[in-house]
Amino acid sequence: MVAVVRVTEDVWTPALKSEEPELGSALIPKERYTSRDFMQREWERMWTKVWLVGCREEEIPEAGDYITTEIGPESLLIVRGDDGVARTFYNVCNHRGNQVKFDQCGNARTLQCAYHFWEYDLTGRLINVPDEEDFAQGCPRDRLSLKAVETDTWGGWVWFNLDPDAGPLEDYLGIIPQHLDAYHLDRMAMTQNMTVEWDCNWKTSVDAFNEVYHVQCIHPELLYNNDDVNVQIDLYDRHNRYLVPYQTHSPRLGEVEEVPEIVVDYMRSIGMDHEPWQGRVPELRRAISAFKRENQERLGIDYSDLNDDQVVDDYHYFIFPNITLNIFAEWALFFRQRPHESDPNKMYYDVQFYNVVPKGQPRPPLPDHDHFKHGEKSLGLVLDQDSVNLPHVQKGMNSSAFEGLWISHQERRIRHMHKTLMEYVGE
Ligand code: FES
Ligand SMILES: [Fe+2]
Repeated sequence: MVAVVRVTEDVWTPALKSEEPELGSALIPKERYTSRDFMQREWERMWTKVWLVGCREEEIPEAGDYITTEIGPESLLIVRGDDGVARTFYNVCNHRGNQVKFDQCGNARTLQCAYHFWEYDLTGRLINVPDEEDFAQGCPRDRLSLKAVETDTWGGWVWFNLDPDAGPLEDYLGIIPQHLDAYHLDRMAMTQNMTVEWDCNWKTSVDAFNEVYHVQCIHPELLYNNDDVNVQIDLYDRHNRYLVPYQTHSPRLGEVEEVPEIVVDYMRSIGMDHEPWQGRVPELRRAISAFKRENQERLGIDYSDLNDDQVVDDYHYFIFPNITLNIFAEWALFFRQRPHESDPNKMYYDVQFYNVVPKGQPRPPLPDHDHFKHGEKSLGLVLDQDSVNLPHVQKGMNSSAFEGLWISHQERRIRHMHKTLMEYVGE
């Protein structure tokens, strides 16, 4: 088997393998994916207790910018105040319960409900009630202002937590900022934004990206530009990661003599000539990494905070419960799985692409947010390959013949996610 040479010292992001926790090998009950009762417990004990990504900061850059976001049965309104602070509110008017905003985003000087024109300022305070003297019980501001939700920022995202007693975001994220601040995710620009309705449980989708066992089966072309075998898995307290070597090939292919076309294309994209390459193909990854560093001025990318692996590899992080990040030196792919409001067999899958803005180039405009149902549009070859099985997995899980998930060692990030989940939900 071809061994991947890894960077062994930590530069900024810790690269060393962490200790393996003991997670056992028990069957994971399928009811966690199919039962309405479990879904309800998940909502009460987990979704309403954890920090969740609401939006990108760049989606609400100016005072008065707002965005609505849904999680399960709740709609939230995230608003940038005149003081520059992003605040999150339940998107509900305290008069008769209308949603304060129905549109996805916009800019407003005040937040006015469209039904009877109750008006709230950007900090959520009720400031105007038409015919206020007509309310015999009065309209106490403390009771009737928008209900605020814990809000904080990290990584270029606005995060919220529905639990008023939630600890700080920093504590929740744990190792994540220390590991990922080297990528300066907050400076990356969103370049694609899609939401897809999928006929599967939100965890069925999370699981699809937390193991590389499926790569040899449904992404055979990826065996030519990444190593799906020498994948380092690290399971932390709540979150986890795997590190996937790129611009090399899978040992499943045996000895590869010619530089694969997919790697040649990659080399062309960075202006590197593959013709003079005389070494063994697995050693090319190091040469590409060195070339990128030497040419960072021309490429407009600053690699100085990243180790040599990070310059080429996918540092793939899962932030419990629903954020997956494929992070490369120049770009990142963000997935967010959101539960359906009532059906455990449905979910919303948010896909966003972020790019480093090369030095000297203008920041690209925000992309339109595209919503569609699975199958109506392509997500690109690899994500289409990932998604094709998922409604069938969900259907199969609902079969009386299926007992639960039979997880291998290389799929243990799934087991780790369930460990954390059950710490919230309980047996
Ligand atoms: S429901 Fe909002 S003003 Fe009446
Ligand atoms: Fe995949």
